[in-house]
Amino acid sequence: MKHLQMHLIICLFVLSQISCHEIHQSGTALQKDRDSLTVAIADSLIRNDPWVRYTYTERQGKQLFEQYCVVCHGQSGEGDGFNAYNLNPRPHSLSDSTYMKALSSETLTETISFGGKGVNKSVLMPAYQNTLSKTQISKVVVYIETFTQTVFKSINL
Ligand code: HEC
Repeated sequence: MKHLQMHLIICLFVLSQISCHEIHQSGTALQKDRDSLTVAIADSLIRNDPWVRYTYTERQGKQLFEQYCVVCHGQSGEGDGFNAYNLNPRPHSLSDSTYMKALSSETLTETISFGGKGVNKSVLMPAYQNTLSKTQISKVVVYIETFTQTVFKSINL
């Protein structure tokens, strides 16, 4: 009998701790739950429609990137396009956020407009100032910047 009482007391204690923990769940913990829910919802939306995460301008940039850049830079900008084995140096990953933080939109625009030669990088990076308009280049830049984005601007969750 004493044993049973002891068990009951322990159970009640454990239960009280659990509910107290839930009641006192901090703001940051709730925010974390909310964030992971947001990511899960965004994930499933993207699986149904890969374009959904992009704004209209980003979509236009993506289309240009896929037409002109993917051969060397790869679909996700990892520097692993089918032509990349020919390149020395290979293009750096455009989704490496630490590396990309140092490259402003202006620098990206210059690199794409004037090529590697224009910014003291490999001449194997072509210049696009005569191929793409300034507006098109700005759209490609906006798209490149999505490689390091974790929050999807076009989805208001
Ligand atoms: C023929 C292959 C090739 C094509 C096509 C190409 N690139 Fe590149 N790109 C390179 C190489 C190689 C580098 C690396 C230069 C270096 O690090 O010296 C590079 C570098 C870059 C960089 C600079 C990143 C850094 O490390 O500073 C940007 C931005 C870039 N490319 C964007 C583009 C865009 C946008 C397009 C399409 C409009 C494009 N590239 C098309 C080969 C290519």
